[in-house]
Formats: sequence, structure tokens, C-alpha cells
Amino acid sequence: MEIEYAWRGPFTDEEVNVLHAEGFDHPSIDIDWSRRLERYSLGWVTARRGSSGAGNGGELVGFVNVPWDGDVHAFILDAMVSAVARRQGVGTSLVQVAVREARAAGCEWLHVDFEPHLRAFYFESCGFKPTDAGLIALR
Ligand SMILES: CC(C)(COP(=O)(O)OP(=O)(O)OC[C@H]1O[C@@H](n2cnc3c(N)ncnc32)[C@H](O)[C@@H]1OP(=O)(O)O)[C@@H](O)C(=O)NCCC(=O)NCCS
Repeated sequence: MEIEYAWRGPFTDEEVNVLHAEGFDHPSIDIDWSRRLERYSLGWVTARRGSSGAGNGGELVGFVNVPWDGDVHAFILDAMVSAVARRQGVGTSLVQVAVREARAAGCEWLHVDFEPHLRAFYFESCGFKPTDAGLIALR
């Protein structure tokens, strides 16, 4: 499968909403991704299948959001690959681009948290190291 990856590549809110609903198993919600990402994120990575070369053609099959603190900490959020494109390395490649670009922007740390079944994905495939971390469910 020919996939093109783009840092801060173009997308429509609708296509990210479709991917998010499928990836996180909820009905489609009308999230204004464009505004959210421009305001809070260092960047994002798009993965498109059958793209024409400019990063803006082809079906959106993967996406990851990279919010940050404006300084040296960046975060992996909303990593998602469409069901038909999973287990072919797309998720790993999305994270590789995020690592490269966060480093290029001067970030020193890339954080992620995840459910236990994704340990192999983040630790073995993407190269994250286990660490102590904390989380409070606020609601
Ligand atoms: C998590 C996700 C982004 C991974 O994308 P992907 O393109 O399938 O990942 P890759 O093909 O790069 O996976 C590489 C390796 O990670 C591991 N891995 C990936 N997904 C896994 C899963 N669901 N369960 C267990 N191991 C997994 C495997 O070792 C895999 O190698 P293999 O296919 O040779 O066994 C994708 O499954 C997804 O969109 N899930 C739904 C949304 C979600 O939960 N996102 C994570 C939020 S923290």
C-alpha cells in the first residue's frame, strides 16, 4: 500500500472526525480540529493512501496530533489508523514523523500514555521507554 506522510499536512475536520469515531469507537462528533490543532499543537501528521505527491490527495488513513507546552515537551495524542490500514506499519511511521519533527522543533521530551494492549506498539515498535507517570481521571 502506497502511503504518503505529511507533517502539518492538509485535512478536513470531517475526515479526522470519521477517523476518530472509528478509532475510538464512538458516534461521529463534530470537532473543529483545524482550530484546535492550530491553537494548541506543535503539529500533526497525516497518512494518505494513493496520494498524488503533494500530501493533499488520497484517502486519509492515519493521523496523529502532537500538542506541546510551547517549549521542550510534546505529546502524542489521537494516534489513529483506519481499521483497513492497521498492522502495516502506518501507526509506527506516523510516530516516527512526530519524533523527527518534535526533535527538529527543539523539543527534548515526547510523552505518551496508552492502554496496556498497546505496550508492544509504543515500547517495541515506536521506541518509547517505560517511565513513572501519573494520571488523574477528572470526571
Ligand atoms: C494504535 C494504532 C494507531 C496502531 O496503528 P497500526 O498502523 O496498526 O500500527 P503498526 O502497524 O505500526 O504496529 C506495529 C506493531 O505494534 C504492535 N501493535 C499495533 N497495534 C496493536 C494492537 N492493537 N494490539 C497489540 N499490538 C499492536 C504490533 O507489535 C505491531 O506489529 P505487527 O503488526 O507486526 O504485530 C491503531 O491500532 C489504532 O488506530 N487504534 C485505535 C485508536 C487507538 O487506540 N489509538 C491509540 C491511542 S493511545
